[in-house]
Amino acid sequence: MRISVIGTGYVGLVTGACLAGYGNHVTCVDVDQEKIASLNQDRVPFFEPGLEEIIKSNRTAGRLHFTTSLEEGIKGSKVCFITVGTPSDVDGSADLQYVLQVAREIGRHMEDPMVVVTKSTVPVGTADKVRSAVAEELKARGGQINFFVASNPEFLREGAAVSDFMNPDRVVIGTDSKEAEEILKELYSFLPPEKVLCMDIRSSEMTKYAANALLATKISFMNEMARICELVGADVERVRLGIGSDSRIGYAFISPGCGYGGSCFPKDVRALRHTALRHGYSPRILQAVEDVNEAQKHLIFQKVLRHFGQDISGLTFAIWGLSFKPNTSDMREASSLVLIQDLLGAGASVRVHDPKAMEEAKHILAGRNGVTFVEDQYEALKGTSALALVTEWDMYKQPDFQRIKEEMLSPVIFDGRNQYSPNEMRRLGFTYYGIGRPNA
Ligand code: UDX
Repeated sequence: MRISVIGTGYVGLVTGACLAGYGNHVTCVDVDQEKIASLNQDRVPFFEPGLEEIIKSNRTAGRLHFTTSLEEGIKGSKVCFITVGTPSDVDGSADLQYVLQVAREIGRHMEDPMVVVTKSTVPVGTADKVRSAVAEELKARGGQINFFVASNPEFLREGAAVSDFMNPDRVVIGTDSKEAEEILKELYSFLPPEKVLCMDIRSSEMTKYAANALLATKISFMNEMARICELVGADVERVRLGIGSDSRIGYAFISPGCGYGGSCFPKDVRALRHTALRHGYSPRILQAVEDVNEAQKHLIFQKVLRHFGQDISGLTFAIWGLSFKPNTSDMREASSLVLIQDLLGAGASVRVHDPKAMEEAKHILAGRNGVTFVEDQYEALKGTSALALVTEWDMYKQPDFQRIKEEMLSPVIFDGRNQYSPNEMRRLGFTYYGIGRPNA
């Protein structure tokens, strides 16, 4: 099938490359000339395991193309995915200007019938706005082309996006007609049919928000349990196993930590809350999920102050892990940024390390005094008063603790992801603080 994908962010690229991998003819479009130029040399502007290889092999096979021209990109497409960003507006609502701009441009250049699919996470009702935007432009040029709109939210996790696309738990398709449903079912025919859930557009749009909000709720719930565990002398890691083993609860997304980040959870919870408010309902759970997460991002800093006293000016801290989670270079809403901000604000300095996110972090923290980027994880510890583990990359899971002790001024560890055993840490002579653990 001939497909176009508008927007080469992580959703667009993974979708485009993987669909090309299934034999479709895919053209990806982006306004960013530099990005398209580097993609045309098989260079992906961010780290996503497996993606570069798929892009390369499909480009070589002639099934995957990149262009800055939407007109050229959508020529002959049966399905056109809109995968541009929907950033949070100042009030927390999703900013739809890019989605609607693309819709209008599609209307200006569409030549054949097609299904226009929103894949970006968009508020309920957006597909209707997309339909109107396309139709208006079509009408303005006197065009009479039969087109459909659809919603096909993505549930990809960064760092596992390629395998998630190839083997998803489900694909949700919301359509306005049987024709559109059939076309999209055909596109996803590489999956067992029971994995393709067809529904109306609004339910499909809502599904994405409900899924992310529930996952974020699980995390905030567990972070709240961790707070209580600390107060009553329980170990949240034991509690996690104790409840996760209940098949009604499950182990997924109940790991406490120093807060969730990324391009989806924070933005989507805010946007859903905003949608509810606009419709006259004040969502209490969503508000609490956000509040708990916000507070959780400051927790390591509070533990630092509790250990070192209120005046930490002049001290240096090592931070391991900058990206919002392992296996990605993405720094969006990363907990590390809040910790760095807190420490710098208190007059301390930081020496930071991350295997993949250093470049993005340098960009974000450009011009900030007191931040030293160190290429080696042990070098980052030199002359520091404590180590804070913020992102649980594999390389930090079994480090050389002897070496850590030698490099630091004092053997203190703040483990923001409960990666180390408190008993083992104490045996090795560290002062150890985890999240929700005794003496944490
Ligand atoms: C998420 C959804 O999982 C995905 O379905 C959706 O399409 C996009 O949003 P992603 O943002 O890539 O994916 O990351 P995810 O693996 O879900 O983690 C999000 C955040 O939650 C990370 O900061 C992670 O550290 C945190 N997290 C996750 C926890 O703190 N505890 C957990 O148990 C799980």
